[in-house]
Amino acid sequence: MPLLEIRNLRIDFGAHRVVDEVSLSLDAGKTYSLVGESGCGKSVTALSIARLLATPPASHPQGQILLEGHDVLSMNPRELQRIRGGHVGYVFQEPGASLNPVMRIGTQIREALTRHRPHFANDAEVIRLLRQVGIPAPETRLKDYPHQLSGGMQQRVMIAMALAPQPKLLIADEPTTALDVTVQAQIIELLRDLQQQLGMSILLITHNLGLVGDIADRVGVMYAGQIVEEGQTRDVLQRPRHPYTRALLKSVPELGRAGRRLESIPGTVPRPGDWPVGCRFAPRCPMARSECSLRPIDWNPGSIDHAVRCPYADA
Ligand SMILES: Nc1ncnc2c1ncn2[C@@H]1O[C@H](COP(=O)(O)OP(=O)(O)O)[C@@H](O)[C@H]1O
Ligand SMILES: [Mg+2]
Repeated sequence: MPLLEIRNLRIDFGAHRVVDEVSLSLDAGKTYSLVGESGCGKSVTALSIARLLATPPASHPQGQILLEGHDVLSMNPRELQRIRGGHVGYVFQEPGASLNPVMRIGTQIREALTRHRPHFANDAEVIRLLRQVGIPAPETRLKDYPHQLSGGMQQRVMIAMALAPQPKLLIADEPTTALDVTVQAQIIELLRDLQQQLGMSILLITHNLGLVGDIADRVGVMYAGQIVEEGQTRDVLQRPRHPYTRALLKSVPELGRAGRRLESIPGTVPRPGDWPVGCRFAPRCPMARSECSLRPIDWNPGSIDHAVRCPYADA
């Protein structure tokens, strides 16, 4: 049984769909990376897993989100609390914004322990967690305030807090986007090492397809609310089939330019409510034919285990 299985997830904001028939499967101890430009629905998908989306404005998600076979979408508040406390940990883009500026980092990690593993809410466990995320001299660092740490070190603290409850699934939503490129690579390496040590699963969300090669087992490429290409990372990176994936690969930020937005794909992601009837990428697609705009595009399985929403992917 996969640790996380999302089936046909649909989420609306008001009259507009923002996540549309998203399905993915993540095995225990593996990493799945959801990749796509800003506004494609990655964060809304990620937040829905532990039901962190406020409803309203979001609709109650339709479909299924199975964590170890249990459907998160039909859980009662107590069951959800257990999921949030123990099973799923989140790391977000801006570590500086998520940390409390007037509280020592050791105290913040201890609070996370108090909430989720109260018997371990002590300095020894805080130090162990700080060491685990690669913070040097943790015995003295735990007395630091967030502003005394670099962005990369702050993100390590956020990862330590997310690890405090010993989650089975770590959801990292653009965890490196606010960081320098060298630091980005270090954080990805840390996540990979932690996963190997702890055996947890990771859902890594990023707009940068260049980051996923070293860590992800599978990749789902998201465009305008849908996954448009899905497969093993090696296959997707070496033999991308969807024109959007190919364009994303060509626009991978170069080394030395952290957090740059992907600019080299002409045009922009259509907003929810403005999605074309047919292929949503067609208006930007160099291969588009008139047929592409007639009706919704179904999966083209192609080779086994590497599917794409494009009938001309292999043409
Ligand atoms: N609270 C909200 N209210 C209305 N629309 C929202 C809200 N949050 C996200 N959206 C919309 O949902 C779409 C997907 O957003 P998001 O999941 O954040 O994209 P991504 O993470 O891929 O950049 C966007 O068009 C965004 O404007
Ligand atoms: Mg996002």
